[in-house]
Amino acid sequence: PLATTGDIVAPAYAEGGCAPAFNVIQAEHITAIVDAAQARRRPVILQLSHNAVRYHGALAPIGSAMLAAARLADVPVAVHLDHAESPELVHEAVDLGFSSVMYDASTMDYTGNVAATADVVKHCHEAGVWVEAELGEVGGKDGVHAPGARTDPQEAARFVAATGVDALAVAVGSSHAMLTRTAELDLELIGRLRSAVDVPLVLHGSSGVPDEGLSAAVRAGLTKVNIATQLNKSFTAEVRRHLGDQPALVDPRKYLGAARSAVAEETARLLDVLDGR
Ligand code: G3H
Ligand code: ZN
Repeated sequence: PLATTGDIVAPAYAEGGCAPAFNVIQAEHITAIVDAAQARRRPVILQLSHNAVRYHGALAPIGSAMLAAARLADVPVAVHLDHAESPELVHEAVDLGFSSVMYDASTMDYTGNVAATADVVKHCHEAGVWVEAELGEVGGKDGVHAPGARTDPQEAARFVAATGVDALAVAVGSSHAMLTRTAELDLELIGRLRSAVDVPLVLHGSSGVPDEGLSAAVRAGLTKVNIATQLNKSFTAEVRRHLGDQPALVDPRKYLGAARSAVAEETARLLDVLDGR
């Protein structure tokens, strides 16, 4: 069934476990991620980034498909808007029935980020929608690994109190869209953030972190773990393998189906990694 994000994140936060969140690009990702969650009997968060909305040209078609898949699932599935850069898109997701949103004003200065995020929180909480925000920009959205960015624990505590967010994305050594899994997380900082901040912490750019690093990050205090690139690597490798030397292959189901299976397999594998406390 469709779950609230709080219902998935809160128990993980209380138990020192992980709430895994996987990014959807198109319909094959939705099926693959839900299949893996059902196979592993694990709740999962399906998330759609603002960039993916731009790719589709609108939120409703793909967003409605995510919600429909969540309702059909036999494990709890939440539907989350990721890296929303405009309050208008947040409002649209709330109206469509999304479980939660991440409002990303991390490129603004501290004061601007607080003001913009607090407005979004007010709107979302009136509708019962859970909100994640980011402090201390996690780099890499421009394709450059910027491992140096860090979130300051005291500033993070102030930010959470001033905005009322339900979860906080923190910069602890990862970057978005890394093709190698070589990022080293600052586990000591994760521990300090966990003590200073009284809401669940979120890891972005998780694909660049090796399996052992992900387990260690959860043990150190991170709760929601966002994974996108790792699934896209599996998807694209499989498409490439199928199309390489088969000029007579024209039915997209042949290669998209194989790619979907590869994403389901990698999602299941990551669910095991993130479950292994
Ligand atoms: O918000 C999504 C995540 O931060 C995904 O990052 O593509 O590096 O796994 P990733
Ligand atoms: Zn992210």
